[in-house]
Amino acid sequence: MKLLQLQKRSMALAGTLMALYLVLHMLTNLSFFTESSFSQFYHWYNSGVVRWIVLILIAVSLFIHIKAAIRIRRVNAKARTIAYKKHDKFHVPAILVTVSIVFLFAFIAVHVFQTLSFDSTDVYGELILQFQSVWMVLFYLAGLFVLMMHLQHSLANVLQTLGKTSLTCNGLVLVGCLLLTAGFAVIPLYIYSVIP
Ligand code: HEM
Repeated sequence: MKLLQLQKRSMALAGTLMALYLVLHMLTNLSFFTESSFSQFYHWYNSGVVRWIVLILIAVSLFIHIKAAIRIRRVNAKARTIAYKKHDKFHVPAILVTVSIVFLFAFIAVHVFQTLSFDSTDVYGELILQFQSVWMVLFYLAGLFVLMMHLQHSLANVLQTLGKTSLTCNGLVLVGCLLLTAGFAVIPLYIYSVIP
């Protein structure tokens, strides 16, 4: 039981670290709208060890988060010997949750491999090239949609654990998740529809 508590805490910590990274990543990406700031930032980011430290931290956090999630899910399934008779209105079937999480993981893996193969001296140009394809834009929009659902659902659960179930709290979480997703989505959409 103690191990499970520890895993729950490390899962929350890893999740918080990744959420913080996402906010910073989205904000730095928005500098795309001023080419010189974007290129300056990525030139600095790629010139030392910062990028590798960030990548290792995210990979370790992702591993801890997924490992703990699998264990918690197993323990919960074992403890629930009788299935729920009635689910709430917005119940999502377990298989759909599993498929969406696997897709989210695949999206992150593909994205990291793509960025690792970028010419680090021209990240701006590489993004423009990447989002010339409508399929790539759709793939990113799908990944961002699943990410938003996952964040919204997980943060609402965390708030519930903390006893914060008011409409205001849940509304703030929803607005935060929508802003984060919009901040990311605007780049592929802008490149595809505005940049020739
Ligand atoms: C349309 C949305 C996104 C764009 C345009 C974008 C762009 C980028 C760029 C330009 C890099 C760095 C390339 C370099 O340094 O050479 C990067 C790296 C990375 N991105 Fe994204 N990203 C997006 C969404 C996401 C999302 C949603 C996640 C996580 C779920 C994510 C996770 C990462 C990670 C882990 C790295 C590698 C570490 C790093 O370089 O910071 N990105 N992305």
